[in-house]
Amino acid sequence: MITGNQLLPGFDQRRAVQGVPQERYLATEIPGPRSRELMVERRAHVSNGFGAQLPVFIDCADGGILLDVDGNRIVDFASGLGPTSLGASNERVRERLQAQLDRFTHTCFMTTEYESYVEVCRWLNRRAPGSKEKRTALFSTGAEANENAVKIARYFTGRSKVLAFDGAYHGRTHMTMSLTSKAHPYKTGFGPFSNDVIHVPVPTSPRASADAVELSLDCVRAALRENDPTSFAAMIIEPILGEAGCLIPQKGFLAGLREIADEHGILLIADEVQSGMGRTGRIWAIEYEDVVPDLLVAAKALANGMPLSSVTGAADVMNAVHPAGLGGTYAGNPLSCEAALAVFEQLDTDGVLDKATDLGRIAIEMLRPLVGGGHGVIDVRVRGAMIGIEFGDEATMEPASGRAKAVSAYCHANGVLALTNGVHENVIRLLPPIVIEPTLFRDGLQVIIDGIRNTAPKAISDDR
Ligand SMILES: Cc1ncc(COP(=O)(O)O)c(C=O)c1O
Repeated sequence: MITGNQLLPGFDQRRAVQGVPQERYLATEIPGPRSRELMVERRAHVSNGFGAQLPVFIDCADGGILLDVDGNRIVDFASGLGPTSLGASNERVRERLQAQLDRFTHTCFMTTEYESYVEVCRWLNRRAPGSKEKRTALFSTGAEANENAVKIARYFTGRSKVLAFDGAYHGRTHMTMSLTSKAHPYKTGFGPFSNDVIHVPVPTSPRASADAVELSLDCVRAALRENDPTSFAAMIIEPILGEAGCLIPQKGFLAGLREIADEHGILLIADEVQSGMGRTGRIWAIEYEDVVPDLLVAAKALANGMPLSSVTGAADVMNAVHPAGLGGTYAGNPLSCEAALAVFEQLDTDGVLDKATDLGRIAIEMLRPLVGGGHGVIDVRVRGAMIGIEFGDEATMEPASGRAKAVSAYCHANGVLALTNGVHENVIRLLPPIVIEPTLFRDGLQVIIDGIRNTAPKAISDDR
């Protein structure tokens, strides 16, 4: 890392973003003076309902670096909450966007058609798990796609209820708030919610017992029995529960859900909004379980930061809805479709999945030794570039939310954007751009490790 008051010689921070040096650098304290000034304006003009995890304003960004308006280069372990997997200024995305800008920005696909929308659907149909012939519908946000997945499931089955899971996050619209389990901050004050949603537990580490999968599947069976299984249209689950702290369901749970869904004619929806599009080292996280969902939802990294989401499923399910039953003015916007095609080109040819797997290996090598080492780290969960570090009491496994916040604050002060989340706010979740350079990734992880050691209770903080 470079410290001091000077930017690299010859570097003009206002020039085009390609060329942002891929090295952490602190020009000022974080947030710096210009960011603080802009925060005053933000508070004066922007709804207080939007939070800010790191109150710095970004000038430009690329690869694994966010360059702020004070000249600080911050290691990006958030990718804009997941979307900018290929970097926030990906060259091929920019080329395709620029070419599309010269042609048109919008027609509305429900009004007049354009080929890129069809090409995006073709790729998703080909890459979604399962051998059935498929169809796809495009939308703009993850929540919108989840809403539509539920609409399609209801239409196809003629049923209304949906089974969702403890810890789930599916979005902020009415139906998706209802599907989301964590009350605060997502649901507080926004009710009433849908009565048709029932939540049940998911078996995940570090607290799951040996028979957790069977016990949790029994809970699913009981919830269906008590609420009439023939009234359920769908079960919706994240193959890795992102907002819950990158919780990975125990092996066999998703396969068990698949069996129960089949037994009762219920559709299984995989919400891959966060875990999909290569983040875990496979295109879809559900591929690790060899389970084929009926409906697969993607968003976030689908168009590398441009607003685009999708629902993909078997043709008979997706075609059941009457024409004009699905849609939206901006659904499948042509700029977003071009960005998605640029993402597909790179996923198909550039070794992106291997890069995600390699980041996962580095995270395991550097972070796993912390578990149970007296630093209050009780679990490190890694699937490629989707990483959760959970804090708690090593003896009782009681969650320690204060530690996650303290480590995150240490990271922010030292130029690393590491976000907290989790059911108990006791997790640091890392979603680095998949294209981050391994050296920079290691540098960022080392800051996290230093933060963990620095914030550990005094008695155990001595270097082990
Ligand atoms: C698993 C999951 N589903 C749905 C959403 C909602 O997506 P959006 O914010 O694009 O509406 C998110 C967002 O974080 C998510 O992680």
